[in-house]
Amino acid sequence: MNQTNYDSTTKLLTVNDLLAMKRRGEKISCLTAYDASFSALIDQTGVDVMLVGDSLGMVVQGHGTTLPVTVRDMVYHARCVSNARHRAFVMADLPFMSYSTPALAAKNAAKLMQLGGVQMVKLEGPRYDCVQFLVDQGIPVCGHLGLLPQLINQLGNYKVQGKAPADAAKIIADAHQLQEAGAGMLVLECVPAALAKEISGQLSIPVIGIGAGVDCDGQVLVLYDMLNIGITKRPRFSKNFMQNADSIESAILAYHQAVKQAQFPSSQESF
Ligand code: KIV
Repeated sequence: MNQTNYDSTTKLLTVNDLLAMKRRGEKISCLTAYDASFSALIDQTGVDVMLVGDSLGMVVQGHGTTLPVTVRDMVYHARCVSNARHRAFVMADLPFMSYSTPALAAKNAAKLMQLGGVQMVKLEGPRYDCVQFLVDQGIPVCGHLGLLPQLINQLGNYKVQGKAPADAAKIIADAHQLQEAGAGMLVLECVPAALAKEISGQLSIPVIGIGAGVDCDGQVLVLYDMLNIGITKRPRFSKNFMQNADSIESAILAYHQAVKQAQFPSSQESF
């Protein structure tokens, strides 16, 4: 890896840059990241957004779910990622039970921003109360609808959400309400491609899909899944980008380019 992709004009992407990408129809590429070395590599390839996901509980810490992840864990990994990037926008998950009230959400989001150096926090579910409270205090928020891994003990399994018309209508209504509460971005996980297309078309904020079809404004994957180094089975909506790559860097670049050119996900990786 070298430093030649940066020049004197290189600066951190902002939430406004991501909004401008949506408006001009440029796809937003996003990968999860958990440490400084991968952060630098991902940043070098030109990936727009890095998500310090609470998926780190599974892929880094070896837990069976994301539930054991603490705010302290998230701050540590967020700091590692933020330290090493020059351009990519960095956001991080508020972990399980860290936003059970708006005041708690603000306390923990402040830690992620002040100590972890992130530009936005992400939270799961239709938590308009928390979104509005955070946004009122200058904390950008990304919503997360569809499959909500923090609710695994209620859901029972990681299956596609929003297939029944009533469930789809609820996800559409929740998406609008999150936008109205001030969310600056939305992640849609494991929903039918047609539903994600409809939501992406209706919302003015960027919609980033994972298992949500090619018509979202951008795509995110768990880094270890797309490098095929996960300790659990790779989900159907992910893809092994190492298959035709001679290095980790070229696999990440192939993913970035496939997202930008709307070549990923294909129908094979969609529902
Ligand atoms: O934690 C995570 O990696 C995520 C993605 C699956 C969107 O939230």
